[in-house]
Amino acid sequence: MRFEGSNQYVATQDLMLAVNAAITLKRPLLVKGEPGTGKTMLAEEVAQALGMPLLQWHVKSTTKAQQGLYEYDAVSRLRDSQMADIDGGDKVKNIHNYIVKGVLWQAFTAQEPVALLIDEVDKADIEFPNDLLRELDRMEFYCYETRELIKAQTRPLVFITSNNEKELPDAFLRRCFFHYIKFPDADTMRQIIDVHFPSLKKDLLAAALKTFYDVRNLPGLKKKPSTSELLDWLKLLVAEDIPLSILQTQDDKVAIPPLVGALLKNEQDVALFEKLVFMQSRNR
Ligand SMILES: Nc1ncnc2c1ncn2[C@@H]1O[C@H](COP(=O)(O)OP(=O)(O)OP(=O)(O)O)[C@@H](O)[C@H]1O
Ligand SMILES: [Mg+2]
Repeated sequence: MRFEGSNQYVATQDLMLAVNAAITLKRPLLVKGEPGTGKTMLAEEVAQALGMPLLQWHVKSTTKAQQGLYEYDAVSRLRDSQMADIDGGDKVKNIHNYIVKGVLWQAFTAQEPVALLIDEVDKADIEFPNDLLRELDRMEFYCYETRELIKAQTRPLVFITSNNEKELPDAFLRRCFFHYIKFPDADTMRQIIDVHFPSLKKDLLAAALKTFYDVRNLPGLKKKPSTSELLDWLKLLVAEDIPLSILQTQDDKVAIPPLVGALLKNEQDVALFEKLVFMQSRNR
């Protein structure tokens, strides 16, 4: 079982190496990187390339580890027991009917090997990764209500993504293989764009990429635009039929790019850009 990239996803050599290392070690792959650098998509693409179903768990600030294992629906059971006189009450007697299986339970008991994505693990509180240590390490957990041990028949291929909003505990890190998706260089970015816009004109692509990296490299930006923002912006440039001349500035001057709202996402960054353009015009 090896991942060699896919038609819709551009994976660099080191990323493929990391995915295959996690497969070999049978450890979760922890993927970090700027927002929009393809962390979530990686799990989807690897699962598809290896022909595995993907179970997804999108973590929120309120998510608890237990929800990924199972939840006992006591309220429904109580309600059913009150109605039991009417329809016999067989359902109520069997506690299994009130165990709601979480994604980990589903992944561990799946008939075929599956991939499991725990997306944005850093959104939950610090207890969350700590509470999953044993489950991810041993791939088993105990259900107290039904008194059964849920153990993975085949270890799922686990992807964990993080945007670095919180530090992850060392004990958690020890159990993962780590990969940081670096921001794509211009060549990789060209390949990514080619996947999404195969018929984009060469000169428009060159001018747009230059503008994009100029914006990104501007010192002091609060939020640098990333791959997904560049793709949105290109889509708009094509849809609005923006002439090439607007993107090409004379003698390497900076100019505010058209449809800048696709690239810069807060007013300070736009103001910084405007200031730069203003200073340039005064120095002329
Ligand atoms: N290597 C790549 N190949 C092809 N498309 C990519 C690649 N990287 C990013 N993209 C594009 O960028 C979009 C955003 O990717 P994705 O949602 O996976 O980012 P993310 O890293 O999970 O971001 P966030 O941290 O905000 O969740 C994808 O829908 C895809 O269109
Ligand atoms: Mg994501």
